[in-house]
Amino acid sequence: MEAPYIIGVAGGSGSGKTFFARELQKILGDAQCTILYQDNYYIDQSHRFDGDGGSVNFDHPESLDFALLAKDLSALKKGKSIKVPIYDFATHTRKKETLDCHPKKIILVDGILILDSALVREELDEAIFFDTPEELRFKRRLERDVHERGRTAEGVKKQFDLQVKPMHNQFVEPSKSYAQTIVKDFGDYHEAIEFFTKKLT
Ligand code: C5P
Repeated sequence: MEAPYIIGVAGGSGSGKTFFARELQKILGDAQCTILYQDNYYIDQSHRFDGDGGSVNFDHPESLDFALLAKDLSALKKGKSIKVPIYDFATHTRKKETLDCHPKKIILVDGILILDSALVREELDEAIFFDTPEELRFKRRLERDVHERGRTAEGVKKQFDLQVKPMHNQFVEPSKSYAQTIVKDFGDYHEAIEFFTKKLT
């Protein structure tokens, strides 16, 4: 098998990157394409926080095990299967179970901070950044976290102001410079999806 082609799909929380990655994967098909999520690579916090994960800043690069993500990408590139960690958000620990991930022709790596990591960047063949206005990112995040993650509107706003927004401005936004393609989000990704479908098939 040819070495997998690895594409970073980055952008802030609520920027549309996961929607894009899933749509593209659907078109390319399971046999051709797989998605790796940054969220699986949160560092086990039990040693740092005595089991209390309340103070974890999920938007800071230090909360993530990018060394492991880079190692896994390198293994996939060599045609090896990997065991993707599963982070337990309830206990802030890494679960004993893992997910099997096999090398495919195209690997999409989805995450807000993947382009901030030099180790991860080195493994990417190219990167796309979803450059979406803050107002829209917040609106989507509010909707998702209240409806899908059981959070309160007040809590979402507080987390956004205290962590998501400052970390976005400090780490996510500047990492845009490492992307070859920047998608300006108007809530319609057809052009980007069409472009990448043509390019990859
Ligand atoms: O899917 P998305 O790109 O939004 O995922 C990243 C976001 O998930 C981060 O902004 C982080 O604040 C949030 N997160 C969270 N609670 C967790 C883990 C991640 O709110 N337990």
